Amino acid sequence: MRLTDSLEGLTPENLQGFFAGWPNPPSPETFHRLLAGSYRISLAVEEGGRVAGFAQAISDGVLTAFIPLLEVLPEHQGQGLGTRLMRHLLGQLEHLYAVDLSCDAELVPFYERLGMERGNAMSLRNYARQSGVSGFPDTPGPGGLD
Ligand SMILES: CC(C)(COP(=O)(O)OP(=O)(O)OC[C@H]1O[C@@H](n2cnc3c(N)ncnc32)[C@H](O)[C@@H]1OP(=O)(O)O)[C@@H](O)C(=O)NCCC(=O)NCCS
Repeated sequence: MRLTDSLEGLTPENLQGFFAGWPNPPSPETFHRLLAGSYRISLAVEEGGRVAGFAQAISDGVLTAFIPLLEVLPEHQGQGLGTRLMRHLLGQLEHLYAVDLSCDAELVPFYERLGMERGNAMSLRNYARQSGVSGFPDTPGPGGLD
């Protein structure tokens, strides 16, 4: 399994099976787009080209980054891949002041083992936009919520 910080040579075909349990998941094409638009990424790629896990950071490139998503395909979980992906991504963010993420309580020890400290998070969710494309005719397009 190789880790890479680049989407080069990977298409939506290579990005199947993620967003487990999401009611309205992004398509592989939308997933490819969100990786392409990220500040830094870390991908675990099988020999055949299938992506087995990923982590993604967004950033202003000056002080702060946020890690919205980390996921490992079920058959690869529990073998250290999530930890490797996080280390690989955090290594790409070492020049920044702050790296933040939010997670469920049971994952706090996982992130503490990576050197992160527990804090508080606040969030808003618009589930009509969970897939990354407008799910309903009357939901606003990019650029406006009013
Ligand atoms: C979280 C996740 C990325 C970890 O990937 P992984 O490759 O299994 O991670 P590692 O093998 O490096 O570490 C596994 C350890 O993480 C912890 N861990 C992982 N998932 C956990 C969970 N749901 N609850 C509690 N601990 C968990 C455990 O300590 C686990 O050790 P164990 O396998 O001995 O029980 C993976 O479980 C996943 O994709 N989950 C679904 C998506 C998700 O929750 N993403 C995180 C968003 S904040």
